[in-house]
Amino acid sequence: MDYLNVALPKGRLGEKVLAIFEEAGFPCPAIHEAGRKLIFENEEAKVRYFWVKPSDVAIYVERGAADIGVAGKDILLEYQPDIYELLDLKIGKCKMAVAAKKDFRDNPGRTLRVATKFSHIAADYYLSKGRDIDIIHLNGSIELAPILGLSDVIVDIVETGTTLRENDLAVVEDVVPISARLIANKASYKFKNTVIDNIVRCTAQLLEETL
Ligand code: PRP
Repeated sequence: MDYLNVALPKGRLGEKVLAIFEEAGFPCPAIHEAGRKLIFENEEAKVRYFWVKPSDVAIYVERGAADIGVAGKDILLEYQPDIYELLDLKIGKCKMAVAAKKDFRDNPGRTLRVATKFSHIAADYYLSKGRDIDIIHLNGSIELAPILGLSDVIVDIVETGTTLRENDLAVVEDVVPISARLIANKASYKFKNTVIDNIVRCTAQLLEETL
């Protein structure tokens, strides 16, 4: 039987997901040994896990280097990978929001300058509102942009709200709720259907029990 290749997002969310998958019948004792190794397998359970940068999980899955993986809805909306979204894990919850300095007042007569890591999500959002914008694509520390006058607003992820608060910014509008999704490569879903459906079913059941 073929191995099931699983791309896990490195970090706290990934640790949670691993715990769920292990309980769902895919244990991997080796992955719990401390070290910097990135790939682990359990020959008996026929599973291979690897730690991937969270924003890269969808790439591994889309191209078939991983059969399944866990990615945030933010990444799926932004990059629109050609994959199946099988399950909302309802963990890693946060939201995509527009934020600005507390004294910000929109002037509809002017092009709105929007700083973001999520250019497509921001463009789609303002297109749906018919608002003219100028996107300033940044790779991190987005909150700096309105403070330094680089942009009027930001479109970014808000989880606890601490980053906004500590930088004197506030949410102006919610864009979309975000959570972690179990995704699958399209060909893998066809050829490893039994095993993938099984992990989806067990995961869904475990989530039900813990909610
Ligand atoms: C995200 C986001 C915010 C922060 C929000 O950054 O870009 O900066 O988390 O979380 P909070 O509402 O709980 O403060 P991330 O840690 O992903 O790093 P980044 O700077 O690379 O975007």
